[in-house]
Amino acid sequence: MDIAEAIAGRRSTREYTNQPIDEPIIHRLIEAAMLAPNAVNEQPWTFTVIRDQALLDRLSGEAKAYMTATMPPSMANGPRAEHFRSMLGDPAFQIFYHAPVMVLISARAPGPWIIEDCALAAENLMLTAYSLGLGSCWIGFTQGFLNTPAGKRALDLPNSWVPVAPIIVGHPRMAPAAVPRNTPEIRWIG
Ligand SMILES: Cc1cc2nc3c(=O)[nH]c(=O)nc-3n(C[C@H](O)[C@H](O)[C@H](O)COP(=O)(O)O)c2cc1C
Repeated sequence: MDIAEAIAGRRSTREYTNQPIDEPIIHRLIEAAMLAPNAVNEQPWTFTVIRDQALLDRLSGEAKAYMTATMPPSMANGPRAEHFRSMLGDPAFQIFYHAPVMVLISARAPGPWIIEDCALAAENLMLTAYSLGLGSCWIGFTQGFLNTPAGKRALDLPNSWVPVAPIIVGHPRMAPAAVPRNTPEIRWIG
């Protein structure tokens, strides 16, 4: 698939079939992630692949509770506050949308550019998933909890690791609608 087509066609996917993702495909996604540009070629990333649905259910509940208790003011007082509160308070809402797999990209240790490095790896992973006919979505709702000692324990992550990009992947139930983009704000200098 042409790169422009992948960039234009990728959409955050929130409805999945329960068809599993084959292990070789997960390896392909991780290989693409690892080709991302990264500061000083430190390659700080690690990949935790979670397919255990009971564990994802448990993580979802704990992440929702954590997010509700620690909601940043910009969310708690913003225009979508009510929407977030009702979503997070809904016991039927699973923040991973019952996707068959979540790939968590974490850095091995804190560092000045780990967020950028892991986010670029995540974008490679998501674009490659799309090129293979798969859907994906970054689940920021779970980041806060995963960065707590309890969150790391839940996934048996070493204490020094910094979870950055929790990406769900699966077969889309249907093609998600495109989310419009604003007109870019561009300043030309020279
Ligand atoms: C850092 C980050 C966190 C996100 N967290 C969530 C999330 O917790 N739940 C969710 O459904 N979508 C989440 N998204 C997906 C965004 O809502 C989505 O990318 C945005 O609405 C644009 O839509 P598109 O990806 O289809 O272009 C997140 C995206 C990013 C980059």
